[in-house]
Amino acid sequence: MTDANGGAAGPTGLEAARWWARMMRDPMDAYGGLFRRYGDAVRLPRDRRRALYLLSRPEHAEHVLVAKQDGYVKAFTYRPLRVFLGDGLLTSEGETWRRHRRLVQPVFAQRHVSAFAPGMAEVAARSVGRWPDGVLLDAAAHMRRITLDIVGRVLFGSDLAGESDATGRALADLQRSAVIGLGATFLGDAGLRRAFRLVPGAQRAGAQLDGMVRRVIDERRAAGPGAEPDLLDLLMRDGDPPLSDAELRDEVLTLLLAGHETTAAALTWTLILLSRYPAARDRLEAEIDEVLSGRNPDAADLDRLPWTRAVLSESMRLYPPAWTIERDAVADDDVAGTVVTAGSTVAISPYLLHRNPDLWPDPEGFRPERFLGEQDRPRHAYLPFGGGRRICVGSGFAMMEAVLVLALIGRSVRLDLAPGVAVPSRAEVTLRPARPVPMRVSRR
Ligand code: HEM
Repeated sequence: MTDANGGAAGPTGLEAARWWARMMRDPMDAYGGLFRRYGDAVRLPRDRRRALYLLSRPEHAEHVLVAKQDGYVKAFTYRPLRVFLGDGLLTSEGETWRRHRRLVQPVFAQRHVSAFAPGMAEVAARSVGRWPDGVLLDAAAHMRRITLDIVGRVLFGSDLAGESDATGRALADLQRSAVIGLGATFLGDAGLRRAFRLVPGAQRAGAQLDGMVRRVIDERRAAGPGAEPDLLDLLMRDGDPPLSDAELRDEVLTLLLAGHETTAAALTWTLILLSRYPAARDRLEAEIDEVLSGRNPDAADLDRLPWTRAVLSESMRLYPPAWTIERDAVADDDVAGTVVTAGSTVAISPYLLHRNPDLWPDPEGFRPERFLGEQDRPRHAYLPFGGGRRICVGSGFAMMEAVLVLALIGRSVRLDLAPGVAVPSRAEVTLRPARPVPMRVSRR
């Protein structure tokens, strides 16, 4: 079996069909199984010519996402998501993508992101301030509420806090539908759209999200631009040529969803890990107490909170919210010794890379100190935000937000996972806890 397929090992025939079935049930479990069984370059045939290649070495990531990125496009696996998100940054290609990226990227430059810090801290402080001592809360729902509220206020000047539960349900439905849709991508966009009518919850999710976006846009059209233009003003005004109504809808929806769900997942996993590793939490609280002395954190504190940052980085190593990044090869290619045929899909999975024992000693352990000081590892061994030109446009925003929210939580409360609660993960579009995450609040 080894090396029968141009440098990659992998199953064939009936066994390959079994892996595909496993993939439809639980893609991350299947990826992990293929990695353990066949190693870090796996080929899973899709049809006579095309295959799915699961490539988990830094040189694979560097080749596909950076050095040879012109030879790859977003994979067919993004197609179900595109039915919901349309042609926003995450799912578009070519000139449409370039035009949107040019428009959006300046808002995420470091100096702008720093200016968002007080707004981010204010939203988090207000939420955390409302958690009574001793109460059991669902950390996942609260992190979603905070991050949606932040994106709504800071980027779009809208109050979305009240929408977070409905949005959370819609997103869960959307993610489940997107995975189900993977089995029907051969239908094309129109066929997929029709197929989603049969998936319970998919229509409702689409309507809920569309409604939220419409409200954001309609409110701004009614109120007119603010004195300081925000992202929404730029999107409505500055496109070259200007964005159509459909493009505006797609981009606002993309940024609202991409901008809150991933950060919420990162924060939730971090809180779970801190509850399980009390020594790391003690050190976090000591750092926060020393640096903040009771005040709200701001942008300048980012560099003064190295342990807080390291905790978040290590949490995203173990639980990368974007757990797989996938591309289709435009032409035949040789990816660091693996021959990839045209039209095939290459999956670079941060989840697998981040747990590859050749790159990370004690890969399953939670050791934030790996991210302190000099770090001696290949550049593309750690990819929570992807790489190349499609790298996350909001990575600086997300890190700033996550540090500020975690610092505010650490300053005010301690959260302990309810005893005996297991937190299984669910890997669909993002990697998040599969169930509510009950945590007990102790005010500090
Ligand atoms: C911890 C939080 C986050 C993580 C882990 C994350 C991860 C990622 C990854 C891995 C990609 C690349 C996907 C690919 O190459 O196929 C991506 C793209 C993207 N992210 Fe994030 N993201 C986060 C937060 C954010 C935030 C806060 C925003 C916006 C406010 C955002 C907006 C986007 C957009 C628009 C894209 C598409 C960029 C493009 O293709 O040009 N993300 N993100």
